[in-house]
Amino acid sequence: MAQLTQLESKLAEVMGLAQAAQKATARVSKLVEDKEVAQTLERMGEESAETEERCARLGDELDGKKTALSKKARETRSEAEQMMKTYLSGDADALDGLEFLIMTEAGELGHVDIVQTLNKRAKNPQIRELVKWVQPIQKRHVQQIRQAALKLAAEEDPNEPAD
Ligand SMILES: [Fe+2]
Repeated sequence: MAQLTQLESKLAEVMGLAQAAQKATARVSKLVEDKEVAQTLERMGEESAETEERCARLGDELDGKKTALSKKARETRSEAEQMMKTYLSGDADALDGLEFLIMTEAGELGHVDIVQTLNKRAKNPQIRELVKWVQPIQKRHVQQIRQAALKLAAEEDPNEPAD
C-alpha cells in the first residue's frame, strides 16, 4: 500500500474523527432532553458527514493513495469509538455526553489546525480549500458544545448526590 505523507496522514485522521463524530453526536443526542441542544447535535452530525465526504473526495484525487487514506481514517475512527465506549458506558447521562463531546470536538479542531499548519509548506490548494471550509465550522462546534454543557450544568443541583 502507498505510504502516506505526514500531511496526508493527518488529513486521514480528520476524516476518521469526522466519521466518529457522526456516531458520537447521535449517541449523545439520545441522552439530552433539551430540544435546542438535540438540534445542534443533529446539525453537527450532518456537518461531520459532509466533512467526511470532502476528505474522501480529496482522497480520490491523491494518486493511488485512496486506500491508504481510508485505512488510516478507519483506524482513527475505531480508536475514537473505543474512547466513546470507555467514556460513555451504560449509565452515562446528558452531562457526561456533552463533556465527552467537549473533548472530541476540541480534538477535531486541533487536528484541523495541524493540517493547516502542515499545509503551509506543502501548499496543496485542495487541502487549503478544505481547511478554509471546515475550520470555522469546527470552531463553532467547540463553542456550541461548551455552551450546551455549561447551560446544562447551571441547571443541575450541585448538592444532589451524584450517581
Ligand atoms: Fe465537529
